[in-house]
Amino acid sequence: MLQTGPSERLAISNMADIVSARGIVRQLAGSIGFGLADQARLATAVSELTRNVMQYAGNGFCEITDTSDIKEISIQVLVEDHGPGIGNLDKAMQDGYSTSGGLGAGLPGTRRLMDKFAVESEPGLTRITINLIRQRP
Ligand SMILES: Nc1ncnc2c1ncn2[C@@H]1O[C@H](COP(=O)(O)OP(=O)(O)OP(=O)(O)O)[C@@H](O)[C@H]1O
Ligand SMILES: [Mg+2]
Repeated sequence: MLQTGPSERLAISNMADIVSARGIVRQLAGSIGFGLADQARLATAVSELTRNVMQYAGNGFCEITDTSDIKEISIQVLVEDHGPGIGNLDKAMQDGYSTSGGLGAGLPGTRRLMDKFAVESEPGLTRITINLIRQRP
């Protein structure tokens, strides 16, 4: 995708990084014209994906990009780690599936919140890309 605005890359390895990533995506979203509900959607999505990075891979990174153009405002977030990979991707995308005794809501919930959701995962690389897109009024 053509990059039309600023991009922020953040290392993720602890709770403070997750809090920062949430705040940065929320602030960027607000500054380019997303409403409060969309800011909250993005913050929740980034929170879930970065929490998975910390929990399952130990560390990784998150890259937040303003992908807006003349017709729409949009944000893309890439979350990547070099951990073990998602063992069963089909199951991991279903509500209630967790290998850690969690709710199993992070990935399916994030997919529902976003307009685009793409995941690739193999041992040593998990890369999830999400987009939220709104037409300009
Ligand atoms: N980055 C990742 N690396 C490896 N496995 C992952 C990663 N992200 C998710 N998974 C796997 O996918 C499963 C589902 O993830 P999801 O976030 O939906 O639920 P959860 O983390 O188990 O629980 P929660 O509802 O608290 O997020 C996880 O239990 C884990 O097995
Ligand atoms: Mg999770």
